[in-house]
Amino acid sequence: MRKASKVIFLATALVFVIAFALLRVLGGAEAPRQPVEFDHWQHVSKEDGPQIACDSCHEHAASGPHATTPNTSTCMVCHDSMKTESAEVQKLAAISEQGKQPEWVRIYWFEREANVYFTHKPHVRAGIDCAVCHGDVKQMHRLRREVEQTMGWCIDCHQEQQASVDCYACHR
Ligand code: HEC
Ligand code: HEC
Ligand code: HEC
Ligand code: HEC
Ligand code: HEC
Repeated sequence: MRKASKVIFLATALVFVIAFALLRVLGGAEAPRQPVEFDHWQHVSKEDGPQIACDSCHEHAASGPHATTPNTSTCMVCHDSMKTESAEVQKLAAISEQGKQPEWVRIYWFEREANVYFTHKPHVRAGIDCAVCHGDVKQMHRLRREVEQTMGWCIDCHQEQQASVDCYACHR
């Protein structure tokens, strides 16, 4: 390569690397489109909305490994009569009527090969707010991954709070 084109090549590559790093830090992951357009802000924070607590819907967060997402039957307690004119609510009602659940796209998960064992119970009981691990869900319309849950991230907090850093605590 001639010197000039080499410089251009390297400069371009550098721009890409920086842009990529910035995107990772600032942008987070894209919010996936969900089968029903569910809005956390509208249900949790909106002033004249229903203001439902996180653990009314994710009811096993304090008691089990999985926080769990509610069945459509829970949604329909309200939506049998509320917002029935909405196309999204009609979609929800149709799924519920078939006795099915929307195929929610997962936001937080680990690769199977990493063999991670995570359980909500000790964390929620220790008083760690959902937002520490999931970002400001209260203000989100369409949910996206805001916190990169890497091994280093788990271990940093475990060291700080004197929880186990034994491999077998998190890999079983
Ligand atoms: C210490 C960090 C931490 C805290 C605190 C935490 N979570 Fe999680 N949450 C995770 C991780 C890690 C996953 C992914 C777990 C997996 O794939 O097994 C997850 C997954 C989830 C899921 C999807 C899978 C499931 O468990 O049903 C929901 C819903 C959820 N969290 C809700 C909540 C709510 C609500 C709170 C607060 C009451 C909360 N989380 C507090 C780390 C946390
Ligand atoms: C406690 C009652 C209640 C429960 C439970 C509830 N919702 Fe809602 N939902 C509402 C209310 C009230 C609104 C309208 C808020 C507003 O006007 O801003 C709403 C709005 C919506 C909308 C938007 C309607 C539109 O087009 O504007 C969708 C979609 C929706 N809910 C889906 C769900 C799903 C899915 C669940 C279950 C996981 C659920 N809701 C559980 C009360 C509830
Ligand atoms: C009315 C019921 C309802 C309430 C209240 C609610 N959620 Fe959710 N949550 C859902 C539904 C439905 C989904 C799946 C669709 C989605 O991702 O938007 C979900 C998804 C999630 C996920 C992603 C799970 C995954 O796939 O990894 C997290 C994290 C979460 N909620 C945290 C919270 C937190 C924190 C609060 C309180 C600030 C909260 N939720 C309040 C119904 C609810
Ligand atoms: C913000 C701090 C924080 C983060 C982030 C965090 N943890 Fe924890 N974790 C704790 C604390 C504190 C405890 C101990 C609670 C207790 O003693 O009851 C704990 C306990 C645990 C336990 C139970 C250990 C035992 O021996 O019973 C497991 C398993 C665990 N964490 C896995 C994880 C994994 C996997 C991640 C990352 C995906 C993670 N934690 C992220 C603070 C955190
Ligand atoms: C506090 C929890 C925690 C502890 C302690 C921990 N890990 Fe991890 N580890 C994780 C999480 C979470 C991931 C997955 C991270 C991701 O998906 O980005 C992971 C990923 C890994 C991977 C990568 C797997 C892959 O898919 O490439 C290896 C290897 C690994 N851990 C080994 C270890 C070893 C060895 C130890 C003990 C020295 C250890 N871990 C201790 C939480 C932990």
